[in-house]
Amino acid sequence: MAALQPASVIAVIGSGAMGSGIAQVAAAAGHTVKLYDTRAEAITVALAGIGTIYSKLADKGKMTHAEAEAARARLHAVTSLADVADAALVVEAIVEDLDVKRGLFAELEGIVAQDAILATNTSSISITAIGAKLRRPERLVGMHFFNPVPLMALVEVISGLATDAQVANTVYDTAASWGKNPVHAKSTPGFIVNRVARPFYAEGWRLLQEQAADAATIDAVLREAGGFRMGPFELMDLIGHDVNYSVTRSVFEAYYGDPRFTPSVLQQEMVNAGFLGRKAGRGCYRYGEGAQAPVV
Ligand code: NAI
Repeated sequence: MAALQPASVIAVIGSGAMGSGIAQVAAAAGHTVKLYDTRAEAITVALAGIGTIYSKLADKGKMTHAEAEAARARLHAVTSLADVADAALVVEAIVEDLDVKRGLFAELEGIVAQDAILATNTSSISITAIGAKLRRPERLVGMHFFNPVPLMALVEVISGLATDAQVANTVYDTAASWGKNPVHAKSTPGFIVNRVARPFYAEGWRLLQEQAADAATIDAVLREAGGFRMGPFELMDLIGHDVNYSVTRSVFEAYYGDPRFTPSVLQQEMVNAGFLGRKAGRGCYRYGEGAQAPVV
């Protein structure tokens, strides 16, 4: 099966950091995109943000102003899930919670066409488990983008035990047609990147808790000597500590409490406090007042 053609409607459920990036990329690739969120203001913020980014890309000559306007015009806010009935592909990017995701897909199954593909951007939850309660679990697949979506080429296309290979191939080809670099993977806890990345974050927290150095020093060392684009703390601030912590918890639980994946209690406290990173103005660093002073 080939990539979905630009005439296919794409629905994006959840208009936060990831959903808005996915919508931006899909509309730029020529699709009509329907954006939904339980918080109407999240859609408003997402659409305004995408419009600004398209304008900046046009100013820089990366697309023409006419292309920017056309892409923006292909993005539509929808206020009810029933409005995504004509979607050929639904990409879910809501809260990282199995029951909430299952509930959403159960509802979507009653709305979209028989041949529509249901994709989840989950960071770590089993694709098999998300699909298990569906009438047709074979059409549920992982389509895991990375943050920030427009800049990160990698997309993990994840098959659960019931996922139809044709569905995974269509999503793979569609991601490629959007300029992404997809890889196929089986549904294992954390998939490829989030599994390999767990020790990066965990050892960062352990170093911090043992007072080896502060967050800024650890980040600088990993960037400058380690060759990473970002150190663990600045990366977690970008990802969001709520998201990062729930991914660690789900990998830890999926591996029966393997101590390698033990979540950090310090990060748990940061989530409790609402210090979620850039999106909250405060995480391991403070944002919005000039220099980024480390908090931890
Ligand atoms: P976010 O918190 O920025 O956005 C989530 C949005 O979903 C919010 O606007 C919220 O109002 C909305 N939402 C929550 N429940 C909903 C529901 N039942 N129906 C419709 N909308 C609902 O979160 P973010 O960072 O965009 O993450 C979304 C998903 O993407 C999660 O599953 C996360 O694990 C995954 N992910 C996140 C990455 C990151 O770096 N932040 C990277 C890759 C995947």
